[in-house]
Amino acid sequence: MGSKYAVELRNVVKQFITPEGGEIAAVDHVTMQIRNGEFFSMLGSSGCGKTTSLRMIAGFEWPTEGEVYIDGEPQGHKPPFLRPVNTVFQSYALFQHMTVQENVAFGLEMERVEKAEIERRVGEALEMVKLSGMQRRRPKQLSGGQQQRVALARALVKRPKVLLLDEPLGALDLKLRKEMQLELKSLQQEVGITFIYVTHDQEEALTMSDRIAVMSHGKVLQIGPSVEIYERPTSRFVADFIGESNFLDGRVKSVKGDQAIVNVPAWGEELTGIVTSKVRAGDEVAVSIRPEKIRLAEKQGIKENSLQGVVVNSTYIGSDTHVYLDVRGQRIKVWEQNRISTLDPRAYYRNGQKVWVMLLPENTLVLPKD
Ligand SMILES: Nc1ncnc2c1ncn2[C@@H]1O[C@H](COP(=O)(O)OP(=O)(O)O)[C@@H](O)[C@H]1O
Ligand SMILES: [Mg+2]
Repeated sequence: MGSKYAVELRNVVKQFITPEGGEIAAVDHVTMQIRNGEFFSMLGSSGCGKTTSLRMIAGFEWPTEGEVYIDGEPQGHKPPFLRPVNTVFQSYALFQHMTVQENVAFGLEMERVEKAEIERRVGEALEMVKLSGMQRRRPKQLSGGQQQRVALARALVKRPKVLLLDEPLGALDLKLRKEMQLELKSLQQEVGITFIYVTHDQEEALTMSDRIAVMSHGKVLQIGPSVEIYERPTSRFVADFIGESNFLDGRVKSVKGDQAIVNVPAWGEELTGIVTSKVRAGDEVAVSIRPEKIRLAEKQGIKENSLQGVVVNSTYIGSDTHVYLDVRGQRIKVWEQNRISTLDPRAYYRNGQKVWVMLLPENTLVLPKD
């Protein structure tokens, strides 16, 4: 491949006229670079512009402003069939009257590929998605997961440079969905094709992606590997959207390197935390601490960032116990893993129990409010 990026969006805007006659920017100055061979996800809630972005890469829509590049080439108004990409939709869009074999072969037949070559490639594609032996079935005779695999095989058989997937697992039940997530990921690694995957499901994005673009209201808020998005969100929005978090309002007292000291008025206390983006002394910020990263103890273990709280409620959920505390008038949630198997009630928290709540500075994030 010529370019080091499989796909690039530069300052892409897509405006639509709403039925009411207004204008909306479904995609609002989006810039992103998707590397060759990458599993890249666009993640955001419904209406944030994921599908529109994908459709502009596929060529079903053209940008109002900006440009889409595929393998370094500006795409302009090129139609979908001239782009080296293929799309898998949520509604598999299989031909119901055709067999699996015919569904997968269809695109190649349209291109008048030689018969023997079609046979070979369809066989390969079906093997990739573990459907060898199902050639003669019709979509109705397959489970939802198998139908999804046919849709995948049909896209892969054309050997696109980039596969675009728009919430392809949306119609499956949770268990099958989780299985297919892992399968899709290993399939992608096997075939080495760049995948651009759209989902509103944060866990799905974290599980599968090499990198994630978090979107909101047509804009990209942050792009990075799963671990970076979860552990080092650069805004309150991203910390809130991905996983769970406790938030406290504060004002930055000082910044030194990647650490900041923040005044938290609700506690009349200073907290030390990590800075993940530009914040300066005097800034209003949100202090964010994930519930699984808070330590509870009967005795105070550290001096910094530790306060006393009272257990308000605790819920045993098997692998974990969810503990809700009142810490100087603020509600704080803490997830603790149940690492010891015991029926002894003293091993679990009681309502009204006093505990020390420790927010290690390395687990405390100081984020711009947005
Ligand atoms: N063809 C269209 N005409 C008018 N508005 C549209 C059209 N397509 C999408 N939109 C609007 O653009 C925004 C983004 O839509 P979409 O890209 O489908 O979001 P997502 O896939 O993230 O749910 C939404 O507000 C949607 O209503
Ligand atoms: Mg969509």
